[in-house]
Amino acid sequence: MSDFPALPTGFTIGTATASYQVEGAVDEDGRGRSVWDTFCAEPGRIKNGETGETACDHYHRYAGDIALMKDAGFDAYRFSIAWPRVLPTGSGEVNAAGLDFYDRLVDELVAAGIAPAATLFHWDLPQALQDAGGWQSRETALRLADYAAIVGERLGDRVQMWMPLNEPMVVTMLGYATGLHAPGLQLGFEALPVAHHLLLGHGLAVQALRSAGCDSVGIASNHAPTWPASSSDADREAADLYDGLVNRLFADPVLTGAYPEGFAEAMPGPVDDDLRIISTPLDWYGINCYAPSLVGAPGGSPDGPAAVGGAPVPAGLPFEPRQIADHPTTDFGWPIVPSAMTEILVTFHERYGDALPPVYITESGCSFHDVVAADGGVHDERRVAYHREHLAAVATAIDTGVDVRGYFVWSLLDNFEWAEGYTERFGLVHVDFDSQVRTPKDSYRWFQQLIKARHP
Ligand code: NOJ
Repeated sequence: MSDFPALPTGFTIGTATASYQVEGAVDEDGRGRSVWDTFCAEPGRIKNGETGETACDHYHRYAGDIALMKDAGFDAYRFSIAWPRVLPTGSGEVNAAGLDFYDRLVDELVAAGIAPAATLFHWDLPQALQDAGGWQSRETALRLADYAAIVGERLGDRVQMWMPLNEPMVVTMLGYATGLHAPGLQLGFEALPVAHHLLLGHGLAVQALRSAGCDSVGIASNHAPTWPASSSDADREAADLYDGLVNRLFADPVLTGAYPEGFAEAMPGPVDDDLRIISTPLDWYGINCYAPSLVGAPGGSPDGPAAVGGAPVPAGLPFEPRQIADHPTTDFGWPIVPSAMTEILVTFHERYGDALPPVYITESGCSFHDVVAADGGVHDERRVAYHREHLAAVATAIDTGVDVRGYFVWSLLDNFEWAEGYTERFGLVHVDFDSQVRTPKDSYRWFQQLIKARHP
């Protein structure tokens, strides 16, 4: 069907979720507290005071949710394991009931013919580890590796893709630099060691997973193009600095074993030794790609800096994020720029060359404030267009020589969108958070047809 982008045979199409955003059941079967439980309980942190306490109740409804994926024909499901379910205090004694949940989930996926893809840390750090310093402490990196060994040994025979980390940039920037996310610290540039410890944890966990027999290990890191606000030297320099901070700081160490110029000095520990661990070769590299950034020199815009991820930009920075005009936006206000997907893939291919393993888009998606219509359906044609255009943008990158192996839609379900609570809906399936009724949206049906056309 001409409506469907042409993608290579064997290209994986999956969906993605994360534990705190969908599971609920925060007090069940011995789960410990996470930093997000703590953060949500603090007044004013989350829109409407919402929490992930119940979320999509996926902990109890996972079988129905997997049946939905199976019906649509998705090849893979990217989920995250809640560290505090497996290790309630982050280390030490394993909570068997918590690990059993993921065993059941993985079995159900395998029985449905869906490849399980597991993230180990999608932001719900055990509170006990936060109390001991969180990602400001090097110890947390070691604990991530211990936890990786435990789950790798238990699930490694069935999980087909592993990623220790999701979006280390967002954890560093929103969790520790600006405070919009848990644990809510506002350290500014003092947060840089957090990036190093996350990356060290990644490298150690990759090694631990491999020792446990897991043979397809990657990362889910968020990247998008940074555009200079103009061709002036000052704007280009500012955009380059920003790109260094949000893209290269997180990709260079993993792919090349070096920090971008000027960053290594800010990092703690035996940095050169750590970089050897951080750059342990990966089987694939996952990119979560949403929207590009427009960046200029400070003070260059009469409107002042645009908020980044909803957070006001602190004064005194050597760059200034700007509003992107001339593009439609999602209901979350994020610009819709499908060509940015091609651009980031081609940029990575050119920048890292042979050091870049095969790539997966580990997240792509959009929030629209969908409602169930009088006819019982959810007519999200803007989301259909979004995914059609973004998949076509991936196909263009493949045509120019980038080895992209798959695309995971964020998200299967409408879910708890962190500081935004339940206001932003990214799902292919609508969730009524009062009744927990799931209603597949038109975008879900579009994927069902696309997949059917691929595997007739
Ligand atoms: C990135 C994160 O990994 C995910 O948790 C979040 O919900 C989506 N992007 C949308 O913001």
